[in-house]
Amino acid sequence: MEKTLVIVKPDAVCRGYSGKILGVLEENGLKLRALKMLQLDKQQAQEFYKVHKERYFYDSLTSYMSSGPVVAALLEGDEAINRVRRLLGATDPKEAKPDTIRARFGQNREQNAIHGSDSPESAAIEIPFLFNELEITDHQKAT
Ligand code: RTP
Ligand code: MG
Repeated sequence: MEKTLVIVKPDAVCRGYSGKILGVLEENGLKLRALKMLQLDKQQAQEFYKVHKERYFYDSLTSYMSSGPVVAALLEGDEAINRVRRLLGATDPKEAKPDTIRARFGQNREQNAIHGSDSPESAAIEIPFLFNELEITDHQKAT
């Protein structure tokens, strides 16, 4: 079983799509292990996306990510990272395959509804950035 971190981004939260987006992930077999709503400040958004600090979109991205509440979720499943990335679709909703979350709920290349960890290394950094051990549940007994 693999764990991955998703963040429903401010555009999707404010347009009322949090539940629908989490529903798509659950319908596709991903198990929710942790969930919360929060608002990142600019510094936290900069830390979260620091791999992009040299990119031209870094300032705009981190302002946007701290502009309103987000919903963070820890999901678990076989090959969860790649499965979630496939369900998200391409970064730009216009380039994302039909039926992907970004094609359905994203607005543009920046306001693209959702983040998903892109590798086990990223997930290992992103999960403890947003959840402490007490907030992470154990699904082993759930059937
Ligand atoms: P994410 O990290 O949020 O899951 O998205 P991603 O892997 O598909 O895309 P990435 O290249 O990691 O970019 C991170 C986020 O930055 C915003 N972005 N804006 N204006 C632009 O050209 C641009 N490019 C990327 C998006 O919000 C993207 O998800
Ligand atoms: Mg990325």
